[in-house]
Amino acid sequence: MQLVLSLFPGVDLLGRGFEAEGFCVVRGPDLIFGGDIRDFKPPSDRFDGIIGGSPCQDFSSLRRCPPSGYGLQMLAEFVRCVEHARPDWFLLENVPGVPDIKPVGYAVQRFDLRANEFGLAQQRLRHFQFGSLRNQVLVLDRPSRGPVSQPIATATEGAKLGRRDWSDFCALQGLPPLALESFTMSARYRAVGNGVPVPMSRFIARAILNQRSCGSIQLCICGCGRRVEGKALSALPACRKRIERKRRD
Ligand SMILES: C[S@@+](CC[C@H](N)C(=O)[O-])C[C@H]1O[C@@H](n2cnc3c(N)ncnc32)[C@H](O)[C@@H]1O
Ligand SMILES: [Zn+2]
Repeated sequence: MQLVLSLFPGVDLLGRGFEAEGFCVVRGPDLIFGGDIRDFKPPSDRFDGIIGGSPCQDFSSLRRCPPSGYGLQMLAEFVRCVEHARPDWFLLENVPGVPDIKPVGYAVQRFDLRANEFGLAQQRLRHFQFGSLRNQVLVLDRPSRGPVSQPIATATEGAKLGRRDWSDFCALQGLPPLALESFTMSARYRAVGNGVPVPMSRFIARAILNQRSCGSIQLCICGCGRRVEGKALSALPACRKRIERKRRD
């Protein structure tokens, strides 16, 4: 069984997905439970993996004020923990605008996933960086996108007039209604809205169990994680469009 340290766990939707796939998840400190990563030092060479979703407001396209610098500070804390603990692999979740992280010794793969690829009624986008000490990559055999019938679930839902019912909101994140009795209503919505949808997290956990050596497999150059064969560089017409868009930007 792989032992995983979950940083910035919040109520840890990300870690719950890993647990459901058979990982043992240990949770690090979080401000919402009175802990602070800046006071935390993980042990070296004990964990197989480190996962975490550091605060993303500074890198978000929805940001209304200039970046505070806190996002970069928390990324540096994540990197510090990885470099100290030296797990075999790490997984960082954030938004697409997050800078690359480069812990010493790790090869890093970036990819995006949308909630509606995993049977959920919303299409919130999540961005990941997977790092491997042994030059492994994740092959992402992605399901096709399902229909979207609901606006995305976000951390600010609790403060909105006409917010969705608690059980409907949890369902949008792939959860049964969570009993967070010690939380205020808006803190409940914030914690669940901040999280990685559980079926998405399970999908990545399975890909980590099946990680492959970089030399043994060829992946689409768009970064989607799909396998390609022979001389092909990209997997789908949508990948080619994505590559063209990146070249133009
Ligand atoms: C995006 S949320 C994590 C969501 C989680 N990955 C999930 O799937 O449920 C970021 C978390 O970082 C926590 N956080 C922010 N600054 C922190 C710090 N200095 N130390 C520890 N946790 C912090 C926040 O309280 C929040 O719960
Ligand atoms: Zn692709």
